[in-house]
Amino acid sequence: MTIVSPSMLSADFSKLGEELVRVERAGADWAHLDVMDGDFVPNITFGPPVIKAIRKHSDITFDAHLMIQDPIRYIDAFADAGCDMITVHCEAEGDIHGAIAKIKAKGLKAGLSINPETDVSAMEEYLPEVDLVLVMTVHPGFGGQSFIADCVPKISWTKEWAKKNGKELLVSVDGGINKDTSKVCVDAGVDVLVAGSYLFKMDDMSAAIEEWHGL
Ligand code: DX5
Ligand code: ZN
Repeated sequence: MTIVSPSMLSADFSKLGEELVRVERAGADWAHLDVMDGDFVPNITFGPPVIKAIRKHSDITFDAHLMIQDPIRYIDAFADAGCDMITVHCEAEGDIHGAIAKIKAKGLKAGLSINPETDVSAMEEYLPEVDLVLVMTVHPGFGGQSFIADCVPKISWTKEWAKKNGKELLVSVDGGINKDTSKVCVDAGVDVLVAGSYLFKMDDMSAAIEEWHGL
């Protein structure tokens, strides 16, 4: 079954707790939390205090996507706020091996994300250490951008790498996921679909989630 992780970036931030409950009731498996620092990406969203506040509203798996520099500085804070999985970027400054080790030491699942312009060779050294790879199909920073199809081969490349190396690895895709692009990614072997604007523009996202579960 394809895992569905709606991106809360497209939710109404004035009622994030209620929006989280809406996502959970619609049948979502995880909630994707986009953390931006205004440095790694040209936008700022929210951090540990907001995640801690919304954690009280739901037990859904919190899939945190850290678009921040030097993420090791904040792993403890995001873990303590209630994240279940934490994904860092291979392009971020600082000790990425250390950040991954810290996420694992906290007992959480660790993910590694890769930007559209980055070659897969940049993430290879980290793959033995992570549980998930998040393939970006837009330039990170904003919701509602168009899917970059050139990134799709990274999905199949990562699945093949995992098979060859006998490693259990989930592959997730993030950016421009909709009715059509979701199928392209599932055909390439993706395990997790992250979607923001496509799902949140619906009054009821349950049918779309159900359809993706069945892909
Ligand atoms: C972009 C974020 C995405 C974003 C996706 O930087 O990582 O998670 O919310 O939004 P859509 O699905 O609208 O492209
Ligand atoms: Zn994201």
